[in-house]
Amino acid sequence: MEKELQKVAEIISSSKSMIAFTGAGISVESGIPPFRGPDGLWSRYDPKCLDLDYFHLNPEESWKAIKSIFYDFFGEAKYNGAHKVLAQLEEKGLLKAVVTQNIDNLHQEAGSKTVYEFHGNSQRLICLQCGKSYVPSEVNLNELPPKCVNDKKILKPDFVFFGEGIPETAYRKSLQAARDADVVLVIGTTGEVMPAAMIPTEAKRNGAVVIEINTEESNYTDGITDYFLQGKASEILEEIYCLIK
Ligand code: APR
Repeated sequence: MEKELQKVAEIISSSKSMIAFTGAGISVESGIPPFRGPDGLWSRYDPKCLDLDYFHLNPEESWKAIKSIFYDFFGEAKYNGAHKVLAQLEEKGLLKAVVTQNIDNLHQEAGSKTVYEFHGNSQRLICLQCGKSYVPSEVNLNELPPKCVNDKKILKPDFVFFGEGIPETAYRKSLQAARDADVVLVIGTTGEVMPAAMIPTEAKRNGAVVIEINTEESNYTDGITDYFLQGKASEILEEIYCLIK
């Protein structure tokens, strides 16, 4: 693995338009479980709580699961070494953007400036009637579903539910960044969920080198991945960062 890490560090050091594509795995070392896999969130909660139609029909039940997953649990999480290294690579001018599927805000908290949130962000709640936006601390999540102070309509977390479209700006900028990329770091994702999962493939189609960091193989590993570094994101990224000139 040493030789491969050295080679990957050289590729990153000489990159001109590198991006990172991240999934739940990059936040596992912050204490946030992944969605899939043996102890994944979808083995404990029914994904229907994030289905848009179900949410509209059963807001209270949906909100109970949403609060427990994304506010009680996520709320305490801190960014980890993997998020930090990506922010440092951006600071050095080596990383142009992070395209993340995550909604936990940890890239921004680690200092990353250009973050395209393909699935939105849990740190915003939106009134479905008047569009007023709230941060979680402004809302009493002990009374579910939370209501807008203006019109008493139900608030929805501003992240993408199953059956909901991808935020147009994030989609467009992510696609452009992938097309412009000469290197893409694919970190902590199964590559299960479209259209997000096509970002690394789009980069590859346009000639990018694909460097994958994951504890397990993913949908990319036997396909578009050029370098597969198996292990924990923070450990591998910190080792690579030490090798970068
Ligand atoms: N370091 C690196 N990778 C890890 C680590 C770790 N410490 N721990 C787990 N992983 C990997 C797993 O091997 C798996 O490939 O992270 C990946 C997590 O996969 P998923 O749980 O499927 O998460 P993700 O790919 O981001 O899911 C995509 O699915 O439910 C939707 O909207 C949700 O954005 C999410 C989307």
